[in-house]
Amino acid sequence: MIGHVALTVLLGAATAAASSADAYAPYYVDCPSDIQIVREPTLSSNETAWVKGRKAVVADSLHSYLARLDLEGFNLSDYTKKIKKNGYSNVPVIAWATSGGGWRSAYTGAGGMEAIDERTPGSKEAKVGGLLQSLTYIAGLSGGSWPTASYAFYNYTSMSDIVKEWRVDIDRFTATGYSQYAAPESAYFEMIAEKYEMGFNISAADFLGLTFGYEFIPGVNRTFSSIAESESFKKFEGPLPILLTSSMNTSNSVENGLYVPDDTDPLYEWTPFEFGSWDLGFTPTKYVGSTDKDNTDNQCVVNLDQGSFVLGAVSAAFNYWWLSATTNDTLGQFSKRQSSLQKRDDDSLTGIASLESLSDAFAEFFGLTLAQIANPSIPNPFTSEDTITFADTSEAGQSVPFWPLIQPERDVDFIMAWDDDADDEPYLWTNGTNIWDTYNLAKDAGLPFPEVPPVSEMLARNYTLKPVLFGCDVSLTTTGDASSPIVAYMANAPYSYYTNYSWAAPEMTYSNFDSITENSFNLVTMGNGSLSSTWADCLGCAAIDRSLHRLGIERPAACEKCFKEHCWDGTLIGGVSEDFVLDPTLALDPTLTYAEWNKTNPNHP
Ligand SMILES: *[C@@H]1O[C@H](CO)[C@@H](O)[C@H](O)[C@H]1NC(C)=O
Ligand SMILES: *[C@@H]1O[C@H](CO)[C@@H](O)[C@H](O)[C@H]1NC(C)=O
Ligand SMILES: *[C@@H]1O[C@H](CO)[C@@H](O)[C@H](O)[C@H]1NC(C)=O
Ligand SMILES: *[C@@H]1O[C@H](CO)[C@@H](O)[C@H](O)[C@H]1NC(C)=O
Ligand SMILES: *[C@@H]1O[C@H](CO)[C@@H](O)[C@H](O)[C@H]1NC(C)=O
Ligand SMILES: *[C@@H]1O[C@H](CO)[C@@H](O)[C@H](O)[C@H]1NC(C)=O
Ligand SMILES: *[C@@H]1O[C@H](CO)[C@@H](O)[C@H](O)[C@H]1NC(C)=O
Ligand SMILES: *[C@@H]1O[C@H](CO)[C@@H](O)[C@H](O)[C@H]1NC(C)=O
Ligand SMILES: *[C@@H]1O[C@H](CO)[C@@H](O)[C@H](O)[C@H]1NC(C)=O
Ligand SMILES: *[C@@H]1O[C@H](CO)[C@@H](O)[C@H](O)[C@H]1NC(C)=O
Ligand SMILES: *[C@@H]1O[C@H](CO)[C@@H](O)[C@H](O)[C@H]1NC(C)=O
Repeated sequence: MIGHVALTVLLGAATAAASSADAYAPYYVDCPSDIQIVREPTLSSNETAWVKGRKAVVADSLHSYLARLDLEGFNLSDYTKKIKKNGYSNVPVIAWATSGGGWRSAYTGAGGMEAIDERTPGSKEAKVGGLLQSLTYIAGLSGGSWPTASYAFYNYTSMSDIVKEWRVDIDRFTATGYSQYAAPESAYFEMIAEKYEMGFNISAADFLGLTFGYEFIPGVNRTFSSIAESESFKKFEGPLPILLTSSMNTSNSVENGLYVPDDTDPLYEWTPFEFGSWDLGFTPTKYVGSTDKDNTDNQCVVNLDQGSFVLGAVSAAFNYWWLSATTNDTLGQFSKRQSSLQKRDDDSLTGIASLESLSDAFAEFFGLTLAQIANPSIPNPFTSEDTITFADTSEAGQSVPFWPLIQPERDVDFIMAWDDDADDEPYLWTNGTNIWDTYNLAKDAGLPFPEVPPVSEMLARNYTLKPVLFGCDVSLTTTGDASSPIVAYMANAPYSYYTNYSWAAPEMTYSNFDSITENSFNLVTMGNGSLSSTWADCLGCAAIDRSLHRLGIERPAACEKCFKEHCWDGTLIGGVSEDFVLDPTLALDPTLTYAEWNKTNPNHP
């Protein structure tokens, strides 16, 4: 996929564009006099103030959305009056999270976002439109970070319009001409060379990040912190984006010469305000790369938070791809239920030929080794180590970005989680391994999270084929009280289209793309209500339930009823047998087998 780039002039020719926020390379400025480079791990005053502003907007969106549900036994005008009191403090904090899974989760997750966007035709009728308008946070990691960031970079315009701008029909790895949508590979390397010449570490994540940037970021050269300066963000028109990544340091294990993370490594998050970790502290995103170490001339780094780089840095799985490709999947395994069933496709983006070609280019142009370019790193303001090195959070057992959303200071009441990390082999569906991991890690860390059943139970109950709610009953949470959010768990599954294509799908036709997003629409709405007449209402019930609890309002009759049907009750039914294979047919057309569908859809991804 990644061809060999024959570049004659790279270094030297590249410096002209540097020192500008419209270019890729970081540069130095005098530190602002009031800058605090490291702040303790608490919620920033910027975020606190912004969330307060956002809640006033959400109160109105939520009202319109709930009015369309018309929940039996619910006094909407009374509820709205109450949540608007006391500085909007009781407005529920609602979040959407999209898992890792490359272009598969990016597109199926975008389909989920389209479904809950009230501007999408059919979404209001299906009674889910308006939830996107009621979000305070939106989180992503790896491929899930791409639609998450894109929504904010596009000023929160409608998802249906944004996806058209992605030009999913262009392969950024083979493009030859220059446009706002793509550039030849040599252009990516020239931009990377500018960064290298400024003395910053460069890696495969810079290259991959630029291909993501050309697809998902309007204007490409936008810093992540610039989102905070846009009018739409300042007017609270959409949710605060949070991107999550894992990290590694020199204490981590080394496999075949490459560092690999584990689930105890600090997770770092990027918001337009700050970058950092709840273990170590936060630094202003705009000045990422700046440290207080030996900073006698008071110089601060800016522009290291280029959106493309950030998207690459939170999708930094090159180490795993390499290990997996060179050991026939013995090493570099993402969390799976069964690892023995894996199969790999060596023609893909992550085949050894592509990986070698990219690593050879870095060796040839910059004299860097595989170990140096496998994972991105930035200067470390938090500890005595020089750098923070990133790894895809999917490598560390958690593919759904719950972590930032369950930090107690964020007080999140309800999380809609889109899980499409294909943790079930061999057919690339989802079995709950990653949410199970998050539950266990949250429990160990004393963080609030719903109890979820183990994977074998998830499968026995079909919880990864149809949406389900966790934590409705406050006793079924790690904290045993209402401080835990309710989670609506939605795993990618086939409703009207088989959406278990490879994560490495850098181009497809819009006809296929539209079928994929329609499949997500059908999943989120349970076939526009045809597979469950109570599910859509129940999402609304889950969205407001914790706030009802705080306000001392009784749960409406409609919600009591639908929770019985859609919330896990904490019991176990014995799981599936060890050799169970998740091999579903289309929920909306169960008799159409994959083999037949494959014949009539010969060009599916
Ligand atoms: C982004 O910046 C680079 C310089 O780093 C420049 O060559 C390129 O044209 C810019 N891209 C766009 C789309 O403005
Ligand atoms: C809804 O609550 C308000 C008080 O805020 C009350 O005046 C009204 O009668 C209630 N409506 C119904 C249908 O109970
Ligand atoms: C549900 O509605 C959406 C939007 O109108 C449509 O795209 C989809 O095909 C419908 N699905 C079913 C099963 O009717
Ligand atoms: C580059 O990374 C190495 C470790 O791989 C580190 O020692 C060095 O300080 C980094 N340099 C910069 C400029 O970040
Ligand atoms: C977003 O809004 C800003 C003004 O805040 C404008 O400059 C920019 O062009 C808009 N971007 C898009 C993609 O609409
Ligand atoms: C360094 O890595 C070790 C081993 O994974 C981890 O336990 C520790 O928290 C890391 N420390 C920092 C400061 O990142
Ligand atoms: C956030 O707050 C600090 C002061 O606490 C301020 O200097 C900074 O400009 C604010 N804005 C952003 C976008 O971080
Ligand atoms: C790779 O693993 C698969 C399944 O585990 C096995 O069938 C295949 O023979 C292995 N290939 C090599 C080259 O070892
Ligand atoms: C799960 O789905 C399968 C296939 O549709 C069905 O046979 C089974 O009864 C379902 N299990 C439960 C607990 O609903
Ligand atoms: C997609 O799912 C179907 C149903 O489980 C399966 O038959 C097919 O082989 C899967 N495709 C891939 C690429 O795994
Ligand atoms: C799907 O169709 C393609 C040809 O379009 C064929 O190569 C492939 O083997 C088929 N897969 C299945 C599982 O039927």
